[in-house]
Amino acid sequence: MTTAVVPGSFDPPTLGHVDVIQRASNAFSTVVVAVLVNPSKTPMFAVEERIAMLERISQDLGNVDVESFEGLMAEFAAARAPSVILKGLRVVSDFEYELQMAQMNRHLKGVETMFVPTSATHAYLSSSLVKEVARFGGRLEGLVPPVVEKALLAKYPQAGEG
Ligand code: PNS
Repeated sequence: MTTAVVPGSFDPPTLGHVDVIQRASNAFSTVVVAVLVNPSKTPMFAVEERIAMLERISQDLGNVDVESFEGLMAEFAAARAPSVILKGLRVVSDFEYELQMAQMNRHLKGVETMFVPTSATHAYLSSSLVKEVARFGGRLEGLVPPVVEKALLAKYPQAGEG
């Protein structure tokens, strides 16, 4: 019963993340969404907010847990063995860095990484672009799930007007 660990910053979760989590949930018996706590960065959403949004998004998927982690992803995944790290690939340029990380994680703890191609409809989505759209008042529909749209609107009341 291999666990799929789906790691990320999720600041905030997008519909691309939702797609990967749903597909992980279909393919694996257990899924752990692992939210990075990076002390050297100031995220828009606190880790508790990101966890709450991801729990809401995953609530209808019976086999998904959401946890936070600090430090090495390889350590987190190895502690949940048997496990694989599951990542979405949006575009070819994602692959270079993802390959490096996958090889490093295998080197560190023998943890395998598997990739799923993101659905074409979500290939252009990223958390940073979504934040920029919200900051400048753009429409968030089709980019993020409703719970995230609400959270972004609370931070940027003008979002969704453009
Ligand atoms: O959503 P992101 O920011 O692209 O996710 C990147 C993440 C969290 C998967 C990656 O930065 C990570 O695994 N960080 C944990 C620290 C670590 O293990 N670094 C070495 C990776 S080989």
